[in-house]
Formats: sequence, C-alpha cells, structure tokens
Amino acid sequence: MTAPITFVGGKGGVGKTTLAAARALALADTGLRVLVLSTDPAHSLGDALEASLSDEPAEVAPRLWACEPDADAAVRRRIAQVAEDARQAVPTEVMPAVHRHLDQAGSSPGMAESALADLLIDRMDEVGDRWDALVVDSAPTGHLLRLLHLPTLLTPWVVGLTRQRERANRAEAFADVVGRSGPEEDDDPLLRRLHARRHRLERASARLREDAVVALVTVPRRMVLAETARAVDQLAGAGFALDRVVVNQIPPEGAAGPDTAAALAATRERFAAQGTVEVPLQDTEPTGAARLRRLAAHLDTGAPA
Ligand SMILES: Nc1ncnc2c1ncn2[C@@H]1O[C@H](COP(=O)(O)OP(=O)(O)OP(=O)(O)O)[C@@H](O)[C@H]1O
Ligand SMILES: [Mg+2]
Repeated sequence: MTAPITFVGGKGGVGKTTLAAARALALADTGLRVLVLSTDPAHSLGDALEASLSDEPAEVAPRLWACEPDADAAVRRRIAQVAEDARQAVPTEVMPAVHRHLDQAGSSPGMAESALADLLIDRMDEVGDRWDALVVDSAPTGHLLRLLHLPTLLTPWVVGLTRQRERANRAEAFADVVGRSGPEEDDDPLLRRLHARRHRLERASARLREDAVVALVTVPRRMVLAETARAVDQLAGAGFALDRVVVNQIPPEGAAGPDTAAALAATRERFAAQGTVEVPLQDTEPTGAARLRRLAAHLDTGAPA
C-alpha cells in the first residue's frame, strides 16, 4: 500500500467516484479495514457502490465502509451550538440580531466547506485506529485543491483569535489591582478550545503531506490532459504526494480514433515521471462490487508506487 490516505481527484466526469470505490474495494479485499468517503456535495458514491449511504459509515462489503457526509447538516449543528452559547451569554433582546447574523453565516459557501473539512479531519483522525485506509472521493479539481489547503488556510485565523483572547486575558490581569493573575489557559474554556483547534488543524496539514497521496484520474482527451497537467503541477508545488495518474476509459485496441490515440500518447508521455495506470473503457457502467472489482484489477493497489 502506498499511503493510508488517498484522495481521488480529477476533472468532472472522468471516473473519480467509480475509481475511488474500486480502489477502496480492492484495498478491503487485501484485508485492510477501509473507509471510502465522498466530499462531493453532489454525492454519487452510493450509486457507484449500489448502496444507500448516509452520514454514518455503513459496511457495504467485507471490511469496506462508506459514507456521504452531510455538510449542510454539519453547518446547521454548528450554528445551533453557537446560538445556544449566545443564548446563555447575551441578553434576550439581542438574540434576534444574533439569529439574523447566524442565518447569513450559515448560507455562505465558506461555512459549508469548512464544515466539510472538519468532518474529513474527524475521519482522518480515525485512520490507524478505526480504519487502516481512507479513500476520499472528491468533487472536480478546484474543489479538491481548496479542500487540501483548508487546514493550512484556517490555521492563521485560529492563531489570530487565540492572540486576541490572550491579550484580553492579560489586560484583565493588569487591571486587577490586587495583582491576582487573570484567567490562564487552564481556566479559560474558550482559549482551551482554540488551542485544541489549532493543534488539530496543524496535525491535519502535516498529515495531508505525510500520510496522504493524491491519485488523479484523467481520460485520453486533450482538454482533460491540460487540466490534469495543471493539477499535477499545483499539487506537487504545494507539497502533496502524487500517486500514479490513472488514465481511465481507454477504448479497446484499434477502436480509438486518431484524436484519442494522440491524446493517449501525449498523456503517457506527460505523466511518465509520476507513472500511469491504464483502465479500459467498459461496455457496461461499472457499478456494484463485481464490476468495480474487474476495474480494480487494473489499478494494482497492492504494489508500491
Ligand atoms: N472505465 C469506465 N468504463 C465505462 N464507464 C465508466 C468508466 N469509468 C467511469 N465510467 C462511467 O462514467 C460516468 C462518470 O463516472 P464517475 O461518476 O465515477 O465520474 P466522476 O469523475 O466522479 O464525476 P463527477 O465529476 O461528476 O463527480 C459514470 O456513469 C461511470 O459509471
Ligand atoms: Mg464523482
């Protein structure tokens, strides 16, 4: 096995979900406990696995669990928690304004993304304990790049909040004429939460670079090659490890038109450094365990990259 965590990425419609499911199934067949999870808000992992999935991991094959986290539900839970904290802390007449503010925050796309990153980090934290391997099916390229960067992007924000809180605590201590010390981290629940959150984000950033690989999926078409090449450069530049590039939907020998044949040759050459794995175009849609296993046979998941 290459790394315990694999992100499957690539342009829209190339076969990310199908290959994430196939790869997860192949890993589970080698005896590992595997979780495959979808971070695409338009989930289709359940369709690929022919299983009905929800927020909570469900066992869909021996040693294989799958889930489709509900980012909107996570946002609603977080907002309800903040509203409850506010209800205890502010006068009743201020609450309508608090609710208006929270409604607005809740519908911002950034909130759903950060809730999704949180759900993903929860699952990453379970790797090594509940799961031996985690396979993440992602939405098209741009979304994956943002998702991988989120832990790093959120850290300075948490550090800033922490500093403000520490300053406020110190000011309180100075103002205390008797000279008693102000609230330290030990007795400041907010500061404790901020420190824990910062460590969690730093751990996730490090983990994404140490224990994760990105398997990009492409198909033999010039435009898809161009986008895959950009993603390879961006990911490598940001310090993420790349697995072999999966070239999917390869037509049978002799059946490829000249454009496809040329795009395939260019794809092999462009990704020679990363290495490529080729998956043939199937004549039936590869859904369900039996057909996914036939696809997975081409992925060679047992061998190191
Ligand atoms: N090797 C293959 N042979 C035949 N059909 C395939 C192959 N790989 C994927 N497909 C089919 O292509 C379609 C798109 O696949 P899939 O949903 O896995 O792509 P995706 O990259 O996850 O798409 P999206 O960007 O919308 O999430 C599906 O109907 C799937 O069954
Ligand atoms: Mg998909």
